[in-house]
Amino acid sequence: MNKTPHIEVDREGIIAKTVLLPGDPLRAKFIAEKYLDDVIQFNKVRNMFGYTGTYKGRKVSVMGTGMGMPSIGIYSYELIHNYGVENLIRVGSCGSYQEHVRVRDVVIAMAASTNSNFASQYNLPGTFAPTASWKLLRKAVEIAGQKNIEVKVGNILSSDIFYNADPDAWKKWAGMGILAVEMEAAALYMNAAKAGVNALCILTVSDSLVTHEETTSEEREKSFTQMVEIALELAE
Ligand code: HPA
Repeated sequence: MNKTPHIEVDREGIIAKTVLLPGDPLRAKFIAEKYLDDVIQFNKVRNMFGYTGTYKGRKVSVMGTGMGMPSIGIYSYELIHNYGVENLIRVGSCGSYQEHVRVRDVVIAMAASTNSNFASQYNLPGTFAPTASWKLLRKAVEIAGQKNIEVKVGNILSSDIFYNADPDAWKKWAGMGILAVEMEAAALYMNAAKAGVNALCILTVSDSLVTHEETTSEEREKSFTQMVEIALELAE
């Protein structure tokens, strides 16, 4: 097994079949330190830290993806195709597009609409709908129920644009029932679909386009335990 341009692992068995994917590599470090036993660090190329350990005895990895679809596109592709990863679970933050989706709520992306051109590589004779793995989605909702965590499940927007020249552009997506915006899930779902593996995106709401409420960056790094605990329980 050879290293990839972005992941310095050249042996089988170092990266688990299930990988949690936060955008921020320091959040990967935080998750590994707080939740995993017997942790090894397997990547530090570009400071995109990756770790493998066990959670309740089950092997699981966690690695940063960076921000945006090009970045998660690279890491998820290499994890799937070079390292045999079968379950890719993004854990991230999002901005709410709906009044009933409140700051700190947990959102699960059943589908990820997008303004990105990522799907053009497939030359499809129509529009692809990037969707979550039903297996992971059903299990995540079940786990949330067992833990008494309320989750909002629906369509999100994966956007290429954080600072939009049109400050009202989000309202058109909101009018289609989009729950919230982030910047990675659609590419993750497409890479997984093309490869025939499972992907899911679980998010916590860090800010609201509707009410302009926000969370602090410290809360963003540390207080998303509910989301992470749902994701870790998905390891087989
Ligand atoms: N836009 C895009 N991505 C995000 C946001 C946002 O408002 N909040 C958290 N991730």
